[in-house]
Amino acid sequence: MPAIQTALTLVFVIYHFASFADSRSWSSPHTYQGMPSHAYSEEEWPQYFEVADPLPNVTWSSPRSFAGSISTETPNMPNNTLFFWGFEHLNGSITSTNSSDPWMIYLAGGPGYSSMASALLENLGPNIMSPIGVSPNEYSWHNFTDVFFVDSPVGTGYSTSGLGGAAGDEERVASDFLAFLENLTKVFPGLQTRPLYLLGESYAGRFIPYILKAYFGLDASRRSVKFRKVGCSSPALLDASVFENIPISQVVETYPQLIGYDIGFFDYIQEQNHLCGYDLNLTYPQLGGKFPSLEVKYGNIGERVHGFSRRSSSLIGHHRRTIAHKNFNSPWAKQTKTRPRSENDPSSFNKTLAGEINTYYGCDIRDMVLEYTLNNTYPWSELRDASYFDITDIPYVNSPRAGLVHPQHWMNDNTTRSAIHAPVNKLWESYIHYEWDNPEGVDPSSAPINFMDELMANATADNVGILWFSGNDDALSAHFSLEVAIQNTTWGGVQGFAQRPNTTWYDDTGVPGGIVHEERGLMYALVYGAGHQINTVHPERVFAFVRDFFIGDMYVGLVNATAKDTSTSNDPGALPNGVVPGQREIYYGSKNITWPEVTVTAFNDHLLGTMMDRYQ
Ligand SMILES: *[C@@H]1O[C@H](CO)[C@@H](O)[C@H](O)[C@H]1NC(C)=O
Ligand SMILES: *[C@@H]1O[C@H](CO)[C@@H](O)[C@H](O)[C@H]1NC(C)=O
Ligand SMILES: *[C@@H]1O[C@H](CO)[C@@H](O)[C@H](O)[C@H]1NC(C)=O
Ligand SMILES: *[C@@H]1O[C@H](CO)[C@@H](O)[C@H](O)[C@H]1NC(C)=O
Ligand SMILES: *[C@@H]1O[C@H](CO)[C@@H](O)[C@H](O)[C@H]1NC(C)=O
Ligand SMILES: *[C@@H]1O[C@H](CO)[C@@H](O)[C@H](O)[C@H]1NC(C)=O
Ligand SMILES: *[C@@H]1O[C@H](CO)[C@@H](O)[C@H](O)[C@H]1NC(C)=O
Ligand SMILES: *[C@@H]1O[C@H](CO)[C@@H](O)[C@H](O)[C@H]1NC(C)=O
Ligand SMILES: *[C@@H]1O[C@H](CO)[C@@H](O)[C@H](O)[C@H]1NC(C)=O
Ligand SMILES: *[C@@H]1O[C@H](CO)[C@@H](O)[C@H](O)[C@H]1NC(C)=O
Ligand SMILES: *[C@@H]1O[C@H](CO)[C@@H](O)[C@H](O)[C@H]1NC(C)=O
Ligand SMILES: *[C@@H]1O[C@H](CO)[C@@H](O)[C@H](O)[C@H]1NC(C)=O
Repeated sequence: MPAIQTALTLVFVIYHFASFADSRSWSSPHTYQGMPSHAYSEEEWPQYFEVADPLPNVTWSSPRSFAGSISTETPNMPNNTLFFWGFEHLNGSITSTNSSDPWMIYLAGGPGYSSMASALLENLGPNIMSPIGVSPNEYSWHNFTDVFFVDSPVGTGYSTSGLGGAAGDEERVASDFLAFLENLTKVFPGLQTRPLYLLGESYAGRFIPYILKAYFGLDASRRSVKFRKVGCSSPALLDASVFENIPISQVVETYPQLIGYDIGFFDYIQEQNHLCGYDLNLTYPQLGGKFPSLEVKYGNIGERVHGFSRRSSSLIGHHRRTIAHKNFNSPWAKQTKTRPRSENDPSSFNKTLAGEINTYYGCDIRDMVLEYTLNNTYPWSELRDASYFDITDIPYVNSPRAGLVHPQHWMNDNTTRSAIHAPVNKLWESYIHYEWDNPEGVDPSSAPINFMDELMANATADNVGILWFSGNDDALSAHFSLEVAIQNTTWGGVQGFAQRPNTTWYDDTGVPGGIVHEERGLMYALVYGAGHQINTVHPERVFAFVRDFFIGDMYVGLVNATAKDTSTSNDPGALPNGVVPGQREIYYGSKNITWPEVTVTAFNDHLLGTMMDRYQ
């Protein structure tokens, strides 16, 4: 079913200037002056990779860093490389050979999204984009660890790929990445024995489980690094269509603003959710065995590859254009069509409970709700086109990153290129549609949920910690889906967590940052006030979380057999089903939109009433 797979590959993408990688294109690394002619080693290579020349407009002092292309040793593909940029925590820490400190790699998702874009746009690196161009970042993660950003798979960002050399599946992504690591750690041998923390976002939730699986498949003597923890925000662990549809009822409970607090439509959503079998009941531990495989049954409207595509313009398919437009005045914006107002007659939607699946939408409940929002709910109803609807961060009808200068100009500047030893025969783009080297351009590998038990067993045996976390404001891959994935995993002899996650964690200023929970080496966290790109709105919050809970071993929220969660406290914000209501205000341009108190109260009373029915 190629169409379904197409949805799968696109949906997790966060998109700026989308372009499609031309399968006839190729690129190769550039040989800068002084490149050693001998194999990768600590002789001369670190000096070569050091970013010694000034970067354009960077007038503040940055940490020492190293950047360039490292071969993936892909058979018959001498030009295949992954591009890295690593920033030192302390002067000399990356080249140190007698350190046991953690080091970290960050991977973007997509597939096809550049990790350099994550560094520059998501407050991760020391230099970030702001409305005035490149600026220093107060919350750069090099403050607490050596951090490498790596463009992967080959061909993404500044990573190069020979003709026909794109990765064909997740196994290749993983073997390329491990070969890259083997060569990288020849240049920086101190990294070989230091604990490695691999973190990613979104579609990296595909890459990372496959990378770890391939690593576990290697004989210990063949491992060039020591994984200590891996993690991912909004990880793509389930099939995309399932991942996106099953949490919609919880998304609406979190942000009833989407449906204008309409009780009638809320009940209709609940009914459809139940009829479609999405009302999975989470228990702690999970009883009744594994959840069945869910398939989204489509209605008359058919399978709309991503959102609205078959009828008007697509929602998610064009989503990258939206964000591109909102943030960066992308040329895409000129191509989006104005949504005909005549299509917006809300009376055409009949929300009478009829006990049967909506014939038009089928179980594509996600699109039913989002279409309702666009049809009826101010301010979304003002959007020119469905493609302007940013479902990755609900309170921000205008993206929090609106107004940022796009990094494309800075990254492609020749001064930047030569300082970071980037290839010269390709344009750096924050996102390309990854082609997977097949005509459909789809990732043929199965979703990680299918081997999660085995992965957890290996991780437990090797003492590799796992972190899956999610932003509470993300409606694209909302946290309920992640909780389903966790309750559908068996490790340490138990299916799912044995206790419901409900411990509050706090940021450096004492503000509740979200919920954290860990059992048997698997940590789950929810971040308040965060969308799909978890680090954009509250960089100070995720900074503290990653420092303390991922790199650090903070045990707030830790539950184990010997120490009965002394540090567990009920999170006051959570509803009985684990939903944490989002913020009241919706931002639209310079307006803060709220609904009348009486409307909100009536909805909340109704919501709690339905929950009492369901959970008591
Ligand atoms: C990269 O590592 C592989 C495997 O050890 C090795 O065969 C290859 O020569 C290395 N590449 C370079 C350029 O040193
Ligand atoms: C990170 O380091 C920079 C410079 O070393 C410093 O100015 C900044 O305050 C640090 N940020 C945090 C959040 O500690
Ligand atoms: C590799 O790169 C070199 C130099 O850019 C180019 O001449 C050659 O054709 C490339 N080979 C492949 C297989 O892409
Ligand atoms: C688990 O480890 C074994 C080797 O011990 C390996 O063969 C297998 O592929 C690994 N599976 C996963 C999912 O990690
Ligand atoms: C979850 O529980 C409710 C209430 O008991 C029930 O109606 C529903 O069918 C259950 N969901 C599934 C998927 O079994
Ligand atoms: C639950 O896990 C099983 C495999 O253990 C898988 O077949 C099924 O699709 C999963 N269901 C969901 C909803 O993730
Ligand atoms: C709405 O649906 C209900 C139940 O199917 C039906 O009885 C009713 O006539 C419909 N209303 C309109 C205006 O179509
Ligand atoms: C949205 O508007 C379209 C066009 O009027 C209509 O066909 C559709 O039923 C509406 N959908 C919802 C969920 O309101
Ligand atoms: C550096 O800043 C100037 C002034 O804002 C701008 O015109 C120029 O394009 C910037 N250079 C790069 C490479 O971003
Ligand atoms: C940047 O470098 C490329 C290749 O080295 C060259 O073709 C191009 O003219 C340069 N651009 C500028 C503005 O100097
Ligand atoms: C259990 O938790 C305590 C902290 O509460 C920790 O010190 C101990 O190592 C944990 N034991 C295991 C087996 O995880
Ligand atoms: C929170 O967790 C504690 C045990 O850790 C449990 O007793 C309590 O019922 C939980 N509360 C909710 C709302 O799940």
